Amino acid sequence: MSTSNDILVRCRGVTKQYKKGETLVTPLESLDLDVPRGDFLAMMGPSGSGKTTLLNLLSGIDQPTSGTIEFDGMEIQDLPRRKLAGWRARHVGYIFQLYHLVPVLTAFENVELPLLLDDMSRRDRRERVEAALSLVGLADRVHHYPRELSGGQEQRVAIARALVADPALLVADEPTGDLDREAADAILGLLQTLVREQHKTVVMVTHDPRAADAAMRILHLEKGRLQEAAV
Ligand SMILES: Nc1ncnc2c1ncn2[C@@H]1O[C@H](COP(=O)(O)OP(=O)(O)O)[C@@H](O)[C@H]1O
Ligand SMILES: [Mg+2]
Repeated sequence: MSTSNDILVRCRGVTKQYKKGETLVTPLESLDLDVPRGDFLAMMGPSGSGKTTLLNLLSGIDQPTSGTIEFDGMEIQDLPRRKLAGWRARHVGYIFQLYHLVPVLTAFENVELPLLLDDMSRRDRRERVEAALSLVGLADRVHHYPRELSGGQEQRVAIARALVADPALLVADEPTGDLDREAADAILGLLQTLVREQHKTVVMVTHDPRAADAAMRILHLEKGRLQEAAV
């Protein structure tokens, strides 16, 4: 029997509306979602169907118009914005399609960034950063700048940055969208390893059915709700 403790993220009746000039857009409408701990969930859906909006709500970057989002048993939808930033830094790692590394910082310095918010000794920070870069297979690229890395390596640095504060949840928005097949497969294999060996929970948005196949389950976002993929 599953208890609420097995569920890392629980969305109930989540609606998100945006005003676009005079019109109201409703990308998410009364959406329910349970993400169990240790899940690797792929979310698919046409462009504009609300995939990024949903990732932003799960990760506390944005807040729903109505409904509840429980993360590890705590409702986050009403946290004040200034608290959300600190909460997010500890609980969620965000991985983007275009990596979003800071070009003038080395791999080490990029991965170190999220830890600078914390009160941590330099030495502890260095250990955490080196461990995260080892985990993604880049122990030998610590002092390289983003321009000296391949796209796949840049995405690994971005994953190390997402991991370094040891969050329970990793959200990834089209993480392989800009990579060739070989680099994409390596990134997907890495995400699988993080779920299996580091007990991470991953929610990944993708257009690519091959990427979605790397996940444990696939949901489709349609008309503001999530549907099981037809097999
Ligand atoms: N900050 C925003 N302000 C206004 N409209 C937005 C905003 N973010 C997203 N939208 C609208 O919400 C809908 C869903 O967008 P998005 O979540 O980015 O879709 P997807 O990631 O599936 O392509 C789109 O119609 C988009 O234009
Ligand atoms: Mg999007």
